[in-house]
Amino acid sequence: MLELDDVKVHFPVRKGVLFNRTVGHVYAVDGVSLKVEAGQTYGLVGESGCGKTTLGRGVLRLVDITDGEVLFDGTDLAKLPEEEMRRYRRRLQMVFQDPLGSLNPRQNIESILSEGMAAHGIGKDQDERREKIKEILGKVGLPTNALSRYPHEFSGGQRQRIGIARALVLEPDVIICDEPVSALDVSVQAQVINLLEELQESMGLTYLVIAHDLAVVRHISDVIGVMYLGSLVEEAPSDALYAGPKHPYTKALMSAVPVPDPEVEDRRERILLQGDLPSPANPPAGCRFHTRCPWAQDRCAVERPVLTDVGDGHKVACHFAAEIEAGTLELTRPTGIEAVTETKAVAAEGPDADKVAIPAQSSGDEAAESEPEPEKKKEQEPEKASAEADEPAETEEAAAEADAPVEADVPAKGEAEAEVEAAVPAKDDAPAPAVDAPAAADADADADAAGPDEDDAAESDASDAESAKTG
Ligand SMILES: Nc1ncnc2c1ncn2[C@@H]1O[C@H](COP(=O)(O)OP(=O)(O)O)[C@@H](O)[C@H]1O
Ligand code: SF4
Ligand SMILES: [Mg+2]
Repeated sequence: MLELDDVKVHFPVRKGVLFNRTVGHVYAVDGVSLKVEAGQTYGLVGESGCGKTTLGRGVLRLVDITDGEVLFDGTDLAKLPEEEMRRYRRRLQMVFQDPLGSLNPRQNIESILSEGMAAHGIGKDQDERREKIKEILGKVGLPTNALSRYPHEFSGGQRQRIGIARALVLEPDVIICDEPVSALDVSVQAQVINLLEELQESMGLTYLVIAHDLAVVRHISDVIGVMYLGSLVEEAPSDALYAGPKHPYTKALMSAVPVPDPEVEDRRERILLQGDLPSPANPPAGCRFHTRCPWAQDRCAVERPVLTDVGDGHKVACHFAAEIEAGTLELTRPTGIEAVTETKAVAAEGPDADKVAIPAQSSGDEAAESEPEPEKKKEQEPEKASAEADEPAETEEAAAEADAPVEADVPAKGEAEAEVEAAVPAKDDAPAPAVDAPAAADADADADAAGPDEDDAAESDASDAESAKTG
């Protein structure tokens, strides 16, 4: 149905008064191949900033694809002239993270939903379109009196249902859901995911579901792809991936998801990533994960591993996946958890205490309880403020380029940054590594709590621009 072959999206980094000098590239998506089967769900996960949204936008040609093929029912969308691409846009729809931001507050629901229909010639008149809208509202669990109401009159979950309805009225084949529940309360998340699942069954839809949280895609996905810094590091049928993640990065992501069974929770392997995601403008050579991988060997810094099928459709991009699985490869870096436990053991039993290889769960609580350093926190706040002050200037500069696609892209960058922050508390939930000063993580979380308005604004612009383009 939808097949990506070595898709790359590189954004030029420009400098100079007229922004015409390219000084480098952001390798946002750097060679992704995947296949979404008809009627199935492909879950794409990875840390914020790894290129998930850019990939989704690339499929819809909301950003230019630098290289590679996007085959949709046998047609390569990447090379279609814009005119022809328009016909395909209806069949490929996107549902955005922030439902409020992507709905025009001045339009009522009927107007929002009929806009795209009219543009794509669905329904011969407004009466016919209204009937169709009523039918779809029923399907997404909204009352028909929603038609004359405005986005702000609905709850977050209902607004996401409206976002889904807006995609459905266009009778798409494929829906790309970009962080469809990240902005919603946990209690509402499951309802929206269940709705997506029901709709898939009743309408035969194909999904690409993007999330930074493995727990979100687990139940809905048939196949899951794990992305790190622009490429896939592991892909497997959902159950196989959960039963036995093979790539060190997937293991780390997985170890941040708590297991409901307390016995398993106590025994399970934990890896906490050291350091931040490297910049996609200057990705590490060799295996892109080698700067953070607890098993990184010399070879990893020079040779880039290829995504390879190791049986039953389980693919992994790691030179040492087999050795790691067999337990024969030595750690070259602490797993984070170890570091936390060592500190604890030393504190409890003195300097001679033995190392504990895979520690019990308690270590995490300890790190979470440690006191934040107030000075460090203060230091970070002005930094954040100045970053915000820079933002409008950046937008103006881009607008001065008078290049429509670029204009649409700029708020998206803001969105990506907002997501990076949004992801921080999730990282925080996991036991924090003692070696990373917990205060830094704390300050980030605070900055995040202080800035939801900015985040919303950035998102809202991005989504408006996107919906204008899609519709
Ligand atoms: N229009 C753009 N111009 C330059 N860089 C961009 C643009 N859009 C996204 N990026 C960068 O590409 C990388 C991937 O971003 P994104 O696809 O939003 O990641 P994710 O959705 O996984 O959080 C980030 O480093 C982001 O800053
Ligand atoms: S190739 Fe090396 S650095 Fe990359 S994941 Fe495997 S062991 Fe780690
Ligand atoms: Mg994103």
